[in-house]
Amino acid sequence: MGFVPTMGALHDGHLALVDEATRRGATLRVVSIFVNPLQFGVNEDFGRYPRTLEADVERCEARGVELIYSPPPERMYPPGFQTHVEVEQVTQRWEGKFRPTHFRGVTTVVTKLLLAAGPCIAVFGRKDYQQFKTLTRLVHDLDLPVEMVGMATVREPDGLALSSRNRYLSPGDRERALAISRGLRLAHDAYASGERSPTALSALVRESVAAEFDRIDYVESVHPETLEPLETASDAQTILVAAHVGTTRLIDNLQLGLDARP
Ligand code: PAJ
Repeated sequence: MGFVPTMGALHDGHLALVDEATRRGATLRVVSIFVNPLQFGVNEDFGRYPRTLEADVERCEARGVELIYSPPPERMYPPGFQTHVEVEQVTQRWEGKFRPTHFRGVTTVVTKLLLAAGPCIAVFGRKDYQQFKTLTRLVHDLDLPVEMVGMATVREPDGLALSSRNRYLSPGDRERALAISRGLRLAHDAYASGERSPTALSALVRESVAAEFDRIDYVESVHPETLEPLETASDAQTILVAAHVGTTRLIDNLQLGLDARP
């Protein structure tokens, strides 16, 4: 079984995960579609998160998905629900700092989804890099019978990482949003030319994003496994970005030396 957990509003990034399950020989492809209330903070976009179930079902069918699991919230969290799963260190910084209850919501729902699915190959996007590292830790620590696969970020031809939240962007904000991938491209090219200073590489991205975005949550070069900030030159670096343009918060990242030029 190849399992792809999602919150719906499916785009080609999600469907690339389904294709990867197929490529790995999954004969039963399962997609879950569940906008998980537990992973949204009180002032976040749970209420307005796009819900496009009919179109999602069509896209899944066209991609060969055999089963869609889309439970109502009260099936996932019936009255009296009080058990949570938490992964400690890797969730502390970055998204964990700006969205304090987010990862506990993600790890709790994904544990439930993986237990419901049973043994499987589970495919996730590295677009949500910290989420992928957190979930890999979770599966390892709890000995869940799941093979974790992390897929490269799918982008628009102009570099913008596909995201369900891109549909919030006005045409002007859509244009400004390109500052992230443009910055990551500068870092990619500098790394290819030999630059290894984490501060120099992250500064290229920060300057690009700062020129267009309304607010930056973080732009940092981190250790790809621990997600701790890097202080000295290193071949292994992941640049993490989160920033606000208009009313939309976008995240992106690049694994230097490994990811394709954005
Ligand atoms: P969602 O944002 O719907 O994403 C579902 C999966 O698609 C995640 O693994 C995410 O990393 C991946 N994805 C999103 N955009 C991508 C892109 N441009 N390229 C490649 N993969 C991409 O992430 C969640 O839902 C939720 O937190 C979930 C894990 C389902 C738990 O509720």
